[in-house]
Amino acid sequence: MIKVSLISLGCAKNLVDSEIMIGHLHQAGMSVIPEAELADVVIVNTCSFIDSSKEESIGHILEVHQNRGMKKRRKEQKLIVAGCMSQRFSKDLSSSLNDEVDAFIGLDQVTKVAPIIEGLYAKDRAAGQVPENFVTARSTYIPDFNTPRFRLTPKHTAYVKIAEGCNHPCTFCIIPQIRGRHRSRTVESVVAEARQLVKEGVKELNLISQDTTFFGMDTWEQRPNPRTPVDSTRGTALTTLLRELNAIEGDFWIRLLYTHPAHWSDELIRTIAECPKVARYIDIPLQHISDNMLGAMQRETSGDYIRDLIKRIRAGIPGIAVRTTFIVGFPGETEADVAELETFIRETKFERLGVFRYSQEEGTRGAKMENQIPAKTKEARWHRLMKLQQEIAAGVSQSHVGQTLRVLVEEPGIARGDADAPDIDGRVYVTKDLPVGEFATVKISGFQDYDLLALPRGQRPAEFKVAKQAQ
Ligand code: F3S
Repeated sequence: MIKVSLISLGCAKNLVDSEIMIGHLHQAGMSVIPEAELADVVIVNTCSFIDSSKEESIGHILEVHQNRGMKKRRKEQKLIVAGCMSQRFSKDLSSSLNDEVDAFIGLDQVTKVAPIIEGLYAKDRAAGQVPENFVTARSTYIPDFNTPRFRLTPKHTAYVKIAEGCNHPCTFCIIPQIRGRHRSRTVESVVAEARQLVKEGVKELNLISQDTTFFGMDTWEQRPNPRTPVDSTRGTALTTLLRELNAIEGDFWIRLLYTHPAHWSDELIRTIAECPKVARYIDIPLQHISDNMLGAMQRETSGDYIRDLIKRIRAGIPGIAVRTTFIVGFPGETEADVAELETFIRETKFERLGVFRYSQEEGTRGAKMENQIPAKTKEARWHRLMKLQQEIAAGVSQSHVGQTLRVLVEEPGIARGDADAPDIDGRVYVTKDLPVGEFATVKISGFQDYDLLALPRGQRPAEFKVAKQAQ
């Protein structure tokens, strides 16, 4: 039996691709093992978002190659490079990683990984021959509800990829060139998958895509423009999907990740408010607030639009936690732009916020722009905003002290509230006796930065700040 080991890098979308590859390997009778050094085949599922992700991917490839050592030559262990870096750079990497890699596969080959492996064994590569390249130019694949898949997340939480690809022209981002045009699954397909997951005991469905708010809109008869809001009167939309998912019987959360601000609408706000299973949490990457920067980034939004949208979301969905990300150091960013962003963050008090330093990515329009910002300036701006957010986050955490919170227990002693997405946000420390994978209601007694504490006195770590009434 062929033993395969898979190293999954990058985001949750790549993780779902890894899960699909493992599902197909199992279906073909291959076994998947965690130890790369014991495997006949190692697959590195790469990320290519920014330079550091490419470096990390190459580092893993070189490490696997080194570990095959002198004894395990290529005949005994094959190395396959998959994922975003392979999709985008397989031709360039073919010669530089000639010795290390046996084959490159792209995003549309995730379901064909087993026959590709069999093929590699059937014809041994002659010395000096370049690696096989199975990557197809334009990615068009989208999984269905019955696509074989082996979940790599804990039993109680799952990612559901509702669409793939992106039609936005953001000048800093390479992903549309890698993952192709936006294509949505059908509502029926997503609902069938969700039903099955809930039946298997999943308590949290994390809806992902490159642009979750555009779900269904690519199928509309009248083509929406990039700023068209979610509108179910024109065809299938995210609101249609959320209402159908909310109607599935069972106790579970639906979490919305990667919502582009341009497509939000009052209908979407109303739908979330009316669907109790949809977590009071939204992930809405805003990237900046200054019109100069939003224009240069081609975000298809404006400062006024964003300010008004956040107000409408907060007013329409009581208790909502808003997560966003901003980029500092985009070409041409001035002190005034940063000051405007700083004021916006201070006034809006996002419950969850990440800041990225702009990375000049080959193949993007941003990379060719003049007025690139020096690394030192980017770093200083990043520190300034992160420090501000740390203060805001402490205030947000403190506001929970004394409240009761419904949490999902992740592992003994550690849980998450519905304002905490897996792997991104904070944690709630709880007593170790709460059953893993189940919901529990706990009383918050303290906090430490982004994390909350729901432990009785005597079990609290010293560094946690505890409110007077909980002492
Ligand atoms: Fe994700 Fe990295 Fe690809 S962030 S979409 S794995 S480039």
